[in-house]
Amino acid sequence: MAALWQTDQPMTARQAWIEKRRQMEAAIFHPLGRELWRQATTRSLMAVAWAGLGVLGLRRRGIRNAYAIETRRVEFCYPDLAPGLDGLRILHLSDLHLDMLPHSAKRIAKRLAGIEADLAVITGDFRWRHRRPVSPEDLAAIAGAVRAPLGLFAILGNHDDHGLVPRLEGLGARVLLNESVTLAWRETPLRLTGLDTVFGLPGREARAALVPAPGVFSIALVHEPQHRALAAGQGYDLYLCGHTHGGQICLPGERPIVTGTRFKRAPTAGAWELGTMRGYTSRGAGVSGLPVRYHSQGEVTVITLRRG
Ligand SMILES: [Fe+2]
Repeated sequence: MAALWQTDQPMTARQAWIEKRRQMEAAIFHPLGRELWRQATTRSLMAVAWAGLGVLGLRRRGIRNAYAIETRRVEFCYPDLAPGLDGLRILHLSDLHLDMLPHSAKRIAKRLAGIEADLAVITGDFRWRHRRPVSPEDLAAIAGAVRAPLGLFAILGNHDDHGLVPRLEGLGARVLLNESVTLAWRETPLRLTGLDTVFGLPGREARAALVPAPGVFSIALVHEPQHRALAAGQGYDLYLCGHTHGGQICLPGERPIVTGTRFKRAPTAGAWELGTMRGYTSRGAGVSGLPVRYHSQGEVTVITLRRG
């Protein structure tokens, strides 16, 4: 990929953050740590729910729904958008959870095959199981299917670990770890800031990464939607996130039962606004917990910026 970008973070700071993240992961996944106990509880609840779906005869339909990923196209209009960015297409992927469904990477790659974009972003959750790395073939299938001349940029989600960073970067993606990059598109600057909200917590480093850049269109990549006020307060123009899976298992009318955001007012799916900032919460291309979807379709999204 021929992306030309500049980062605002020295490599030493990046390495220091990766080391700090590694230590946080070790503490969280310590055998006596809260996360392993929480996951054990979740797995027990999932087993009960899976049994219930079997009794109701809904499993097969739910799995079929989970594989049925759609391409959604959205336009965001900005009155003051620089003319050079008018028409910029951003491919937004999120919550791939490539280890949940067999062959899901191939299915997602197939969905991406006909999509042309200028810039591509992935807002975290490449895997579901915390203890297992994503298969190299699956990662390569996704990275290889993305066509975007400005490059592929990613952040980590609450299911990912620091080990994913060199693997993604070896495939040509750039992982943003509480840092910004400035791109140039038709001689117009465009800034991307990626937060690393380890397990949903926007720590000091993540908050410090959100810095105003007056006059430069700025996009915040954050795994969860509930930190959107932090970005809006710093003048960001666009906030791209996922994490909720659009509810994944919903009542008719896409009414989610569980969203994983802890904040009921967080937008769980689709386009939204907060002040002058626009945002999009992806329903995700994959599933987690249970390999099913009901009344909530997985997606890959193409967002087009418009002046007007
Ligand atoms: Fe997820």
